[in-house]
Amino acid sequence: MKSFSGKKVLITSGPTIERLDPVRYISNFSSGKMGKALCLAFANAGAEVTVVTGPVNIEYSSAAHVISVESAREMLQACEDQFASCDIAICCAAVCDYRPKIYHDSKLKKGADDASLASIELVKNPDILKTLSGIKTNDQRVIGFSAETNNLLENATFKLKSKGCDMIVANDVSAGQVFSKDKTAATLLTKNGTVEFAGGSKDELAELIVDEVAKL
Ligand code: C5P
Repeated sequence: MKSFSGKKVLITSGPTIERLDPVRYISNFSSGKMGKALCLAFANAGAEVTVVTGPVNIEYSSAAHVISVESAREMLQACEDQFASCDIAICCAAVCDYRPKIYHDSKLKKGADDASLASIELVKNPDILKTLSGIKTNDQRVIGFSAETNNLLENATFKLKSKGCDMIVANDVSAGQVFSKDKTAATLLTKNGTVEFAGGSKDELAELIVDEVAKL
């Protein structure tokens, strides 16, 4: 029985990149593998899936509608465009928290632009998970991820409340775990308690997330 038949699921995936000039940017090591696994699991469960993805080197399920973006602001815009028609949003993307305040149209030059290269002023990006949680209706559900190197459950519990979402999937990313890897481990937190995923593939975690989201 496909539990998400007739439901629309929005998934953010991959990193964002935040340009400094035409050849330089800030980003992170997110591969999009978890987003890919979620697309597949929700599509297999019968959902209509839209993925808003930062630049990645992977192919999402052919069943998913893929919207490619680059920056956090573009990702937010695409999500705001899609969210009203969706039942569930899963914010799996590793969104850059900050971006360079100034984008330079021409490549910064060593020597002439040393000051701009040595010290890059950053400004805060919008929080997509928090924004969607803030506008969700009673019928919509929003799920976030929490990558932590320490105090995993404490930080994830705080995030569940502060972001206002319905579930947080907390990953321990200390010692190079999780990012870009095929295996993962996680704790799923809702206001009703926790569910442990002791370890396995990202596909297996995605299937557990499908089951737990169905209970929300
Ligand atoms: O606050 P933190 O970055 O640890 O929160 C992680 C969660 O928030 C993830 O679900 C991520 O996709 C989401 N997030 C977001 N927009 C941001 C930062 C994080 O949607 N600017």
